[in-house]
Amino acid sequence: MIWTAPIGYNGPVSQPDGAPPVNGPLLDGQGRKIQYLRLSLTDRCNFRCSYCAPMGPDRQEDPLTRPELARVVGVFARLGIRRVRLTGGEPTLRRELLDIVRDVRATPGIEEIALTTNGHALATHALLLREAGVTRLNVSLDTLDPQKLQRISGRAATLERIVSGIEAAFRVGFASVKLNVVVVRGENEDELGNLARFAWRFGATARFIELMPFGPGKPVPTAEVKRLLEAQGIRLEPDATRGWGPAYHMRGSSAVGGEATSGLVGFIGAMTENFCDGCNRVRVGADGSLRACLGGRDRAPLRELIRAGASDEEIAAAVRAALLAKGEKHEMPRGGSGLLPMIGSGG
Ligand code: 5AD
Ligand code: SF4
Repeated sequence: MIWTAPIGYNGPVSQPDGAPPVNGPLLDGQGRKIQYLRLSLTDRCNFRCSYCAPMGPDRQEDPLTRPELARVVGVFARLGIRRVRLTGGEPTLRRELLDIVRDVRATPGIEEIALTTNGHALATHALLLREAGVTRLNVSLDTLDPQKLQRISGRAATLERIVSGIEAAFRVGFASVKLNVVVVRGENEDELGNLARFAWRFGATARFIELMPFGPGKPVPTAEVKRLLEAQGIRLEPDATRGWGPAYHMRGSSAVGGEATSGLVGFIGAMTENFCDGCNRVRVGADGSLRACLGGRDRAPLRELIRAGASDEEIAAAVRAALLAKGEKHEMPRGGSGLLPMIGSGG
């Protein structure tokens, strides 16, 4: 297929034979600049969140090894990636996690490292992660009710452990701590205000995420989440704070029980809002496959390329080609077949 520059594209021009550019910033098929890599370290998870993990035991996996991960990150950094988020499954299940963090940190060009975790191991890991070079943490927390937590995330999920993990993260001074709340109809709609107030106690941001259709459960549209927050005592005002991704923020304040608190609230309207426009990211799954879009079906098998002896240039070319093939919007509203469950892709 001949590659032609999309409207609004102002990157490098294609080569004379119509092949995609071999240098210049990493751009996707819509001319969006890609600077953010989400790297899944494992398919495994010790939790079983209904909306994420498929039922049954973890799959047998053959993830990228530590040297392969370092190499992939190096290739991406030379292509212009500046921020890396380590995800899973649950990244703390990866034994070499701290060494992997150190490798990423030692990669020229990488400016920031974030990690998404379920919080189960955070009480023991927070300081080590921070020392190894992680600067930002996202912790998943959908409820403050211990029983409900087990219903949503499985028997291994213990509220007490997660809360002490969040406290530890707060103590060791991460630049940013966010609590990810997936809002599920009939599950946690009544707790949104309390979750925001809980996050603010730690100077954290509560981020309310629309459920994406990887499993059972019904989403609650972001517009309704805002109404629920107001009804649960949170006043919302516009705020210009931007993060790395599609979340946008509002400043919230609360005066429940005579105690005035305030902080940021984030929203990810994955299904109902214009979520894809500002896309700046690329994903590499636990199986080493590049996915240009979370909701897309196309993959580029980087692990197989590496193991077949590809050079860095060949890997870089495969990355560019996969991103140029990327569409304008995700395909999630059209239904789930062919989409990977969240657990292998880390959100
Ligand atoms: N819809 C929305 N968010 C999800 N996550 C996992 N599965 C889904 C889903 N189906 C989020 C979790 C976690 C992050 C890795 O992805 O909240 O914080
Ligand atoms: Fe594990 Fe996170 Fe998926 Fe829950 S959402 S099963 S904690 S990877």
